[in-house]
Amino acid sequence: MVSFPQDFLFGTSTAAHQVEGNNTKSDFWRMEQMEASSFAEPSGDAVDHYRRYREDVAMMAELGFNTYRFSVEWARIEPEEGVYDEKEIGHYRNVLLACREFGLTPIVTLHHFSSPFWLIREGGWESEQTPARFARYAAHVMQELGDFIPYVCTINEANIAIGIAKAMKNFSASSAQVGLNVDMAARMKAYYAELGQAFGIPPQEVHSFLAPRSEQGLRVIFQSHEEARAAIRRVRPEARIGITLSLHDFQSAPGGEEAALAAWEEEFLQFLPSLRDDDFFGLQNYTREIHGPDGVLPVAEEAEKTQMGYEFYPQGLEAVIRFVAKRFGKPIIVTENGIGTDDDERRIAFIDIALQGVLNCLADGIPVKGYMHWSLLDNFEWQLGFSRTFGLVAVDRSTQKRSPKPSAYHLGRIARTRSLAQGGISP
Ligand code: GCO
Repeated sequence: MVSFPQDFLFGTSTAAHQVEGNNTKSDFWRMEQMEASSFAEPSGDAVDHYRRYREDVAMMAELGFNTYRFSVEWARIEPEEGVYDEKEIGHYRNVLLACREFGLTPIVTLHHFSSPFWLIREGGWESEQTPARFARYAAHVMQELGDFIPYVCTINEANIAIGIAKAMKNFSASSAQVGLNVDMAARMKAYYAELGQAFGIPPQEVHSFLAPRSEQGLRVIFQSHEEARAAIRRVRPEARIGITLSLHDFQSAPGGEEAALAAWEEEFLQFLPSLRDDDFFGLQNYTREIHGPDGVLPVAEEAEKTQMGYEFYPQGLEAVIRFVAKRFGKPIIVTENGIGTDDDERRIAFIDIALQGVLNCLADGIPVKGYMHWSLLDNFEWQLGFSRTFGLVAVDRSTQKRSPKPSAYHLGRIARTRSLAQGGISP
């Protein structure tokens, strides 16, 4: 197959906290301000997408995209429990209206890592009350804005805590698909003392989303997904609902076959019962992970590495799509795939290989409905701050000026022509 279907969703992904700026009612905002913070720097104005969304949406359309995946921020919409901020709902209505005006189909994520400060004080992602609270928020958003939202992702990377727990254990960020700064053992004590003060609860009870999770906490997350899905179906039966999971291409070296299967089980298969009534699966892949007899193999010395230390391995996307398709059996949307690099030619190479993999899957009849590249803009990579550049578009944060990189034009052209062959790299 050489071209993508007419109705293929082509676009980019962002997350509110990483791009909007001034997410002051959120847990992460509070953690970023701490003296002993594990964040390299605070998010601050981020890349000012909260104010510049219209120009950003116009730019996406101009580049050739037909879809935009972004998240709405729970902490803005419900800054205090049960109190909804009409102005913030109005803001997201405007973003959705801009999408409509410029011909972009929105895919809206309801939770992308950051949470309201109050939620964390109330037990956060380990509390049995969180599913009902999340479902109530989800219903409110869909009640108010559902007219404009054809696709909803409830929770982004609902499985991320598994990777984080492994990363803390290995003391390397290599197994978590997100920017974490885990090299802080010496600062742990001071950190926890201040964390407790910041939240006004014992530090061991601060359960934000990007923290290692207990079994109970994992259940809370998937229960939140299921209850939100049911609540959304009640108010907007026509909305298509999915979750997103971060999945490496789990491979094995001789002797590691069982461990690789165990990783698939732990990161994906165990959650399938909870996803059975979903309409699509949001698939996020950045690299592969090779399991040997004694654990995960380090990335080979000679391998090309990204800014995150991941192996440059865009082939992983096709493998993960095939694995998921076989077990899930419903439409798949690639909700994230991308590379942190300052070498834009490598981004272009990454995109071409990844998309060739998507075409191979389509040729075999696998229902891949779209591809959202992570990310539109260079942005706030969580604990690693602004140092990692995943964007198709560079941002000068002193002026907030956007400059599309050659990769932006490249992917935009592929989106417009729905063909890899005609992709070129000049604007
Ligand atoms: C994730 C998140 C993004 C990250 C991206 C790059 O997939 O972890 O959705 O917020 O920024 O993955 O690490």
